[in-house]
Amino acid sequence: MRSAKTLFSLFSVLGTARHALGQFATRLGGVNTAGYDFSVDTDGDYSGTPSPPPTSQYTHFTSEGANLYRIPFAWQLMTPTLGGTINSTFFEEYDTTVQAALDSGSGVYVIVDLHNYARWNGDIIGQGGPTNAEFASIWTQLAAEYGSNDRIIFGIMNEPHDLNVSEWAASLQYVVNEVRSAGSENYLLLPGSSYSSAETFPTEAGPYLVNITDPLGNTDKLLFDVHKYLDSDNSGTHSTCVTNNVDVLETLVTFLQDNGNRQAILSETGGGETTSCYTDLDQELAYVKSAYPTLVGFSAWAAGSFDTTYVLTLTPYSNGTDQTLWTEAVLPNLP
Ligand SMILES: *[C@@H]1O[C@H](CO)[C@@H](O)[C@H](O)[C@H]1NC(C)=O
Ligand SMILES: *[C@@H]1O[C@H](CO)[C@@H](O)[C@H](O)[C@H]1NC(C)=O
Ligand SMILES: *[C@@H]1O[C@H](CO)[C@@H](O)[C@H](O)[C@H]1NC(C)=O
Ligand SMILES: *[C@@H]1O[C@H](CO)[C@@H](O)[C@H](O)[C@H]1NC(C)=O
Repeated sequence: MRSAKTLFSLFSVLGTARHALGQFATRLGGVNTAGYDFSVDTDGDYSGTPSPPPTSQYTHFTSEGANLYRIPFAWQLMTPTLGGTINSTFFEEYDTTVQAALDSGSGVYVIVDLHNYARWNGDIIGQGGPTNAEFASIWTQLAAEYGSNDRIIFGIMNEPHDLNVSEWAASLQYVVNEVRSAGSENYLLLPGSSYSSAETFPTEAGPYLVNITDPLGNTDKLLFDVHKYLDSDNSGTHSTCVTNNVDVLETLVTFLQDNGNRQAILSETGGGETTSCYTDLDQELAYVKSAYPTLVGFSAWAAGSFDTTYVLTLTPYSNGTDQTLWTEAVLPNLP
């Protein structure tokens, strides 16, 4: 008992030291709970109505070991006018979901995910569309709501694509500065381009994003946000998988380690209810687990308001039984 306790204390001290340095020091694993993003398209258009993810899923998945939930929302729902104030009625609805996720376990983290592809109604942020100030406005308002909660991670933007990465990096730098000016010390997730591709990150946006600075003093709280699917065109629209992505993730890890020992989160990945995906997704997530802390963890796509017939569904059946993909590939790799 005594030696076990000493060992425990040693780990506690190391944990504290690591935290003091500020890098993310908890391995994360969980799932996206979609719904507030339904109908946002890749052009940043939005025409839907909010579909709150069932809160029962948080206790369900947390009891199985999940400690990360990414909760996407449409920009137009949170601020109906570009650059305007948050709709408090919608925010209360969204926040009820966020709090249910946090309340499902004391070690649970939530990614607040602005799911708009770097666009508002077809126009690109900082590149003819919303100004950087309009983009920062939603985040300084969310910083006022969530800035004191260190279990909330700000997913600054979902899946930018087809834009100038140099100018995109400048937009991100603007938001980082404004969020810190607003008093928030939350971890921030910074995405590259090509739909947050983990594969293109080291050669496309990565070289620009590693140069983004944090007014907090170092880059420990700036994590990179990457996505990767396992189907033939990396779109996440097919039920069969053709790769376990380990080669792509190894290249990413090398890039991150060579550029200041930075960290990333695989915040979207997934497959269908097929044996190829049971195998490939399990191998991918086992690699993510082995690459901690460079890869902080993953959130699989997707549960929430998706029904049990959606091609990449991880929504449990109404009788409480999980999808086989969850039990075969995700569950074994949770923290
Ligand atoms: C604000 O949010 C509520 C709840 O989602 C919605 O009913 C209302 O229409 C929204 N207001 C605006 C101006 O979009
Ligand atoms: C991207 O933007 C930068 C800065 O405005 C500019 O110098 C560069 O030429 C642009 N790149 C492309 C490919 O348009
Ligand atoms: C990043 O910063 C380094 C050091 O200042 C500089 O050499 C490099 O060109 C920058 N990278 C990009 C893509 O701007
Ligand atoms: C739960 O429902 C699913 C889908 O209908 C079914 O495949 C599974 O066998 C059920 N599990 C139990 C324990 O009844």
